[in-house]
Amino acid sequence: MKEIYFAAGCFWGAQHFFAGVDGVKEAVAGYANGNGENPSYEQVYTDTTGFAETVRVTYDEKRIGLKELTELYFTIINPLSLNRQGGDIGTRYRTGVYYKEEADKAEVQPVFEAEARRVGAPLVVELEPLRNFYLAEERHQDYLDKNPEGYCHVPLKAFRYLRLYQDIKLILEGETDSIARMANMAALIHERMHFFWTGFYRVQGEQLVLGPFQGPSACFRIGFGKGVCGSAWKEKRTLVVPDVEAFPGHIACSSLSRSEIVVPVFEGEAITSVLDIDSKELAMFDATDALWLEKIVTLL
Ligand code: SME
Repeated sequence: MKEIYFAAGCFWGAQHFFAGVDGVKEAVAGYANGNGENPSYEQVYTDTTGFAETVRVTYDEKRIGLKELTELYFTIINPLSLNRQGGDIGTRYRTGVYYKEEADKAEVQPVFEAEARRVGAPLVVELEPLRNFYLAEERHQDYLDKNPEGYCHVPLKAFRYLRLYQDIKLILEGETDSIARMANMAALIHERMHFFWTGFYRVQGEQLVLGPFQGPSACFRIGFGKGVCGSAWKEKRTLVVPDVEAFPGHIACSSLSRSEIVVPVFEGEAITSVLDIDSKELAMFDATDALWLEKIVTLL
C-alpha cells in the first residue's frame, strides 16, 4: 500500500471521488501542510492556519499507479484557478499534490507537464512534500454518503463517468478487435448514461461510415466537414452542440435529437473515428462530458 495526498478544493467531493477509484483502499478527509497541530474545521475555515483541505489516498500500487491517480485528480479540479474551486474561495481550498517520497514527485511531475500542455497555461497547483496531515472530524468523513443532497463542487456526473470509465476499461480487457471494442463501449455508455443515441462513425476515405451504435437507425455516411460529426473530424476537436437546430449544417438522423456531442478518436495524430452522442434534451452536454468522453475513447 502507498499514500498520496490530494488537495482539490472542498474535501467532501474529493474524498467521495477517490473512494470510488478502483485500487484505492481508503480515502480520508483531512488538513495538510499548515501551521500548528490538529486544527479544527472551524480554525481551518478562518483561512489563517495555512492548512488545505486534503484527501489522503491509500492505494494498492499493484492495481493503480500514481500516474493514473494524478490524471484522475486533474479531472476534478480547475488547475488554473488559484485558491478557488467551484464556489469555494480561500487558501484552504488551494489545489496541491503532496508526497511523502521524493520518487513520487518524479512520477507525478510528467502528469503536471502534460496537463499544462493540455490547458495551454502554467498550472497553479502545488507539488510539494507533505509537511503534516491531520484527520478531519468524523462528520466530514464520507460526507456525501451521509448527506446525499449535500453541497458538492464536483459535478455529480463526474462520479458516474468515473464508474463508467473504469468498467469500460475492465470489460475491454483482452479483446483486440476494434469493432467489437467500439460495440461494447457504445453499449455501456448508452446504458449507463441514458442517452438517446450513442455510436461511432468510422473514417473511410473521405467519409465517415456508420459503426457500432445503440439507439434508432441512423444515417450511413457523412462527408468530411459535414454535420457535427464531419465538422469535429475536420476541426480535430470535440464539438458540444447545445441546440442542434442552431448548428449550421446539422444532419438530423432523428428529429427527436435536440443536443449533441461529437468526440474524435485519435490514433497518434490521425482521426480514425468519432464518437457521436445525441440527447432528446437541449444542452445535455458540457465540459464534464467532453473531458470524460475524451478520456473514455482513449481506451479504444
Ligand atoms: N447529427 C449528426 C449525424 C449523426 S446522427 O446524430 C446519429 C451530425 O450532424 O453529424
